[in-house]
Amino acid sequence: MKTKKVLILGGVTEGYILAEALADQEGFHPISSLAGRTQHPRPPVGETRIGGFGGVEGLRAFLLEGAIDAVVDATHPFADTMGQHAALACDQAQVPLLRLERPAWEAKPGDRWYPVADWEQAVALLQTQGARRVLLALGARELAPFSALDDIWFLARTVTRPDPMPPFAAAELLVARGPFSLEQELDLLRGHAIDTIVCRNSGGEGAAAKLTAARELGIAVIMRERPPRPKVPVVASVESVLDWLARDA
Ligand SMILES: NC(=O)c1ccc[n+]([C@@H]2O[C@H](COP(=O)([O-])OP(=O)(O)OC[C@H]3O[C@@H](n4cnc5c(N)ncnc54)[C@H](OP(=O)(O)O)[C@@H]3O)[C@@H](O)[C@H]2O)c1
Repeated sequence: MKTKKVLILGGVTEGYILAEALADQEGFHPISSLAGRTQHPRPPVGETRIGGFGGVEGLRAFLLEGAIDAVVDATHPFADTMGQHAALACDQAQVPLLRLERPAWEAKPGDRWYPVADWEQAVALLQTQGARRVLLALGARELAPFSALDDIWFLARTVTRPDPMPPFAAAELLVARGPFSLEQELDLLRGHAIDTIVCRNSGGEGAAAKLTAARELGIAVIMRERPPRPKVPVVASVESVLDWLARDA
């Protein structure tokens, strides 16, 4: 049986789990691709390449020259450029493409969610709602638009340290990597008297406790919705990817 070369566009946990699962299976050769944003990324199991491909054209060439049999787009829900490039390049190179994506969070009874499409809308909402003490649970590079709001005190929680920290009038920085428990989130929100959380709809369990805590405390959540992605088949689990590879790729 010919070994299938599977390119995994990674960046989130699911990509690592898939690479591990494929490396263990006979008949598959996983190649993980990372963007190279993190300085010392955890190395995935198996062959790995790091850095952009050079747009759609570069990825198409990579697929053809590397004789790639299938591509799994396991990038973060907000990494939409890579998703679009993958759809175009796979279409041009005639390589099957599957999207692996954790489902988005959905509001439950008792939630006070305000969906927004971008940070501009979030900034405007914070002003109209008269927010005073806000938790920004965001990426380090997404804080800047909020630093213009001088009347609000911010708790900025990021996984990596912002460099530079945007010029907030009043803010505390908390560099911390989840998952966080419900207890931890309740303590954080109560301890800082937070009235509003700003976050992205990343989905998954590791970052969901803040939403449960917000519901329990009646705190507003300004939720950035996911950007649209190209229409490609989507699955939510690594098991479903393995089924697809065995069946369709
Ligand atoms: N956006 C987030 O919030 C977020 C959160 C957690 C993890 N990540 C991960 O961090 C990476 C970069 O995110 P982003 O939002 O900057 O992506 P993006 O805006 O969709 O992609 C920008 C460019 O980065 C390169 N790139 C992205 N993912 C790549 C991958 N897996 N392998 C090789 N090149 C890749 C591509 O460059 P070329 O055009 O040169 O090919 C792409 O055009 C992604 O892998 C993503 O899964 C992102």
